[in-house]
Amino acid sequence: MRTLIKNGTIVTAIDQYSGDVLIEDEKIALIGSSLADIHADTVIDAAGKYVLPGGIDVHTHLDMPFGGTRSADDFESGTIAAAFGGTTSIVDFAIQYRGQTLHHAWETWMKKAEGKTAIDYGFHMIITELTDQVECEMDALVRQGVTSFKLFMAYRGIFMLDDGSIFRALLRTGQNGGTICMHAENGDVIDVLVQRALKAGHTAPKYHALTRPARAEAEATHRAIALAEMAEVPIYIVHLSAAEALEMVTEARDRGLPAYAETCPQYLFLSYDNYEEPGFDGAKYVMSPPLRDQAKQKELWRGLAFNDLQCISTDHCPFCMKEQKELGRGDFSKIPNGAPGIETRMSLVYDGGVRAGRISLNRFVELTSTSPAKIFGLFPRKGTIAPGADADIVVFDPNRTITLSAKTLHMKVDYNPYEGRQVTGAADTVLSRGRAVIAGGAFVGRKGGGSFLKRSTRA
Ligand code: URP
Ligand code: ZN
Ligand code: ZN
Repeated sequence: MRTLIKNGTIVTAIDQYSGDVLIEDEKIALIGSSLADIHADTVIDAAGKYVLPGGIDVHTHLDMPFGGTRSADDFESGTIAAAFGGTTSIVDFAIQYRGQTLHHAWETWMKKAEGKTAIDYGFHMIITELTDQVECEMDALVRQGVTSFKLFMAYRGIFMLDDGSIFRALLRTGQNGGTICMHAENGDVIDVLVQRALKAGHTAPKYHALTRPARAEAEATHRAIALAEMAEVPIYIVHLSAAEALEMVTEARDRGLPAYAETCPQYLFLSYDNYEEPGFDGAKYVMSPPLRDQAKQKELWRGLAFNDLQCISTDHCPFCMKEQKELGRGDFSKIPNGAPGIETRMSLVYDGGVRAGRISLNRFVELTSTSPAKIFGLFPRKGTIAPGADADIVVFDPNRTITLSAKTLHMKVDYNPYEGRQVTGAADTVLSRGRAVIAGGAFVGRKGGGSFLKRSTRA
C-alpha cells in the first residue's frame, strides 16, 4: 500500500522545503523533490499546504474520574477529536489509587483504551501512594513502555504525595530511566485559602483562581526542581501557567539543570478575566493551575521562543457545564477541574504563535510534536518527517480560517472555552501510520485503529 503526498512544503523542527513524501504501508519510505512519477495507490496533492509531523499531545485525561464524575470524552471521542485537530499521538494518564498496585491501574487504563482509539496512545502513570512494592513496580512499568510518572504536590487526600515520597520516586527514576512529571502547586496553602474563602461566603467560580496564587505554583515548582536536583535526575513540570513558576524553571536551566516544562494553549489565550464572565460561566475555566493575568502571557511566549518551555500540550480534561461543572454551583471547590482542548491546540498555536510572529514555523513543529516525542521516548519513530519514521502526517492549510465552536468541534462537551474565536491554519488531511483518519472534513479512520505506544527511557 503506497501513498504519495506531493507538491507540499515539508516542515520539521529544523527544515522547510518543497518536496514529495512517499509512504509505504505504515512508514515514510522516501522523501524527494520529484517523486510524482512513482506509482502510488493514493495521491494527496498538498500544493499550498504544509506537510507536518503529526501533533503529539503528551497531556490528556480521557475517561478520567474526577470529583464525583468523569471527563466527558472517552478514548473514542477524544482521539477522534484529536485527529480532527491534527494530533496523531497522545499520552494519557493512568491513575493508581491508594491501596492499588500500579499494575492494576495500568490494566484498568489499557482496557479503557483498547479497541477504542483512532490514533496511537501511551500512558504516564499517576502515583498516589509510594510503597517499596510500588517502587519495584515503577521499574516493571518502565520496561513495559510506561516510562513517565505524574506526581501531585496538591489535592491532599486524593492525589498529593509528601516530599519524602516524591524524593524516593525521583531517585528511582535515576535508576530506571523514567521521567517524573510534576503537578506543581502548594496544595496545603491552597487548602487553607479555599477554606477561608468558603467561610467568608466566597463561593463563585472566580474564587478557584483567587485561592490558587501564582506564588503557590512558583514555590512548588522551585521545590520540585530542588528535589530533582538533590536526586540528580531530570524533572518535567506539567501545565505551567504562572510567569513566576517559569522564572524558577529558567533559573534552574540557567544553572545547567535538566528542568523541563510544558504550558498549554489555555494559559496563552485565556486569562483570569474569563472567571469574571457573568453568572456561573466562570466554571468553564476552572482548571488547576488556574488561568493567570493576561499581562504575564508574554513571559510564557518568551519561554516558548527561548526553550525554557519545551512543549505545548493540552491537559484536555473536559466536563460539561450541564450536570458536571454544575456540581460546584454554590461551592467553587466542587467544580470538576479541567477544560477541553485536544482538538484546538494546533490551530490556536499556529494562529496565535506563528501567524502572530511569536514563534517560528519550525518552533511550532518542535513544541507540538518533536520535543514531546524526544522527552517522552517516541523519537525518531514519531515527531518528525524522515525515512523510517511512522507516517503520522498532517497536511495543514495555513490559509484556512475556522471558527471555534462547541457546535462544530468534535469533543463531547457542551461548551468551548474559545467559542466564536476565528483562527487561521487548520489540519486538512491527517494520516496515522499511513492510513487516512481525517480527509475532506470527515473522520475516515477506524475506532480501534490506534496502537499502544511502548515508549523508550531517557537517552
Ligand atoms: O484542572 C486540571 N488540570 N485537571 C486535570 C488534572 C490535572 O491536574 O492535570
Ligand atoms: Zn495536574
Ligand atoms: Zn492534567
